[in-house]
Amino acid sequence: MLGSTRYWILALVSSLVWRLLAGPAEQDIGLLLSSDRPSNVLLLTAHPDDECMFFAPTLLALQELSSHQLPTIHSLCLSVGNADGLGDIRRRELSASLDVLGIAEGKRWVIDTPELQDNFTAVWDAQVIADAIRPYVLKHNINTILTFDHHGISSHLNHISLPHGAAHFLTTLPSSAEKPPPRLFTLVTVPLYEKYLGVLSPLLSKASIALSRIPRDPRTASGAARVVAVSGFGGYARAHRAMREHWSQLVWFRWLYVSFSRYMWVNEWVELTPPTLAQTASGTQP
Ligand SMILES: *[C@@H]1O[C@H](CO)[C@@H](O)[C@H](O)[C@H]1NC(C)=O
Repeated sequence: MLGSTRYWILALVSSLVWRLLAGPAEQDIGLLLSSDRPSNVLLLTAHPDDECMFFAPTLLALQELSSHQLPTIHSLCLSVGNADGLGDIRRRELSASLDVLGIAEGKRWVIDTPELQDNFTAVWDAQVIADAIRPYVLKHNINTILTFDHHGISSHLNHISLPHGAAHFLTTLPSSAEKPPPRLFTLVTVPLYEKYLGVLSPLLSKASIALSRIPRDPRTASGAARVVAVSGFGGYARAHRAMREHWSQLVWFRWLYVSFSRYMWVNEWVELTPPTLAQTASGTQP
C-alpha cells in the first residue's frame, strides 16, 4: 500500500517537473527593445560558438515576441576563433549555427582582423572594438546591443573586452535629441555554484519569475527590472543542435558544458549605461 502511494507521489512530482520544464518563460524580455521602431537588435560576440553556448535562450525568446514587437536580429562576431588555426572551419560552423538559431543570412557578420584575434590572454582594445562595430550599427539602424558583461561568463578576456568596447562606442556617438543612442544590455555572469546546475537552472528561474508576478506592496518592491529568458525543451534542443554545428569544438568538456550549463537554458540581462551618457541624460532633465 505504502509502496503504491510512493509510486503515485513520484509520478505526480515527475509530471509536474516535466510540465514546468517543457515550455519557455520570460520576464520583461520586451524591455531589451528600444521604443524606436523598427527594432533592430545586434548580438555582439567574440568567437564562433558564443552565440549558442551563451545567448540562445534570448535569441529564441526574441523571435517569440508578438508581431508588433518582433525585432530583426543581427549577429556580429569579432573573430573567427583562430586560436587553434581553425578559423576557416569555425566561420562556416558559425554560419550553420546561426541558421539553426534563426538569424538570417545577410544579417550576420564575422570580422577577422589582426587586432581582434581569439586569444585567452589578450585584452581587446575598446577603441578598436568601437571602430569595428560602428559601421554595422549605423548602417542597420541598430537600437539594442546585446553582449557579455564585465565578467564575460567564462572570464575569457576577449569576452570581457566586449562590454568595454560597446560602452566606449556609445560615448563616441554624437548626441542628438531625435535619435537616442542604442541601448546596451549585458548578460549577467552568475557565480560558479549556480553555473552548472543543469535542469535545476530553468526550474529555479521559472519559480523566481512566478514569485515575482505575485503582487507586492509597491513601497517595499524593488524598482529594478529583471530581464530574463528561459528556454523550454524545444529551445534547449535548438541550442544543442546549434552547438553540434560547431563540431570542431566538441571536445569532451564541451559536452559536459552543454549538458549542465545554465546558459543553455537561462539568460538574465542588465542594462549598461556608460557614465558620460548617464550625465548627458540627467543633464537634460528639467
Ligand atoms: C596572445 O596575447 C598575448 C598578450 O597580448 C600575446 O603575448 C601573445 O603573443 C598572443 N598570442 C598569439 C598566438 O597571438
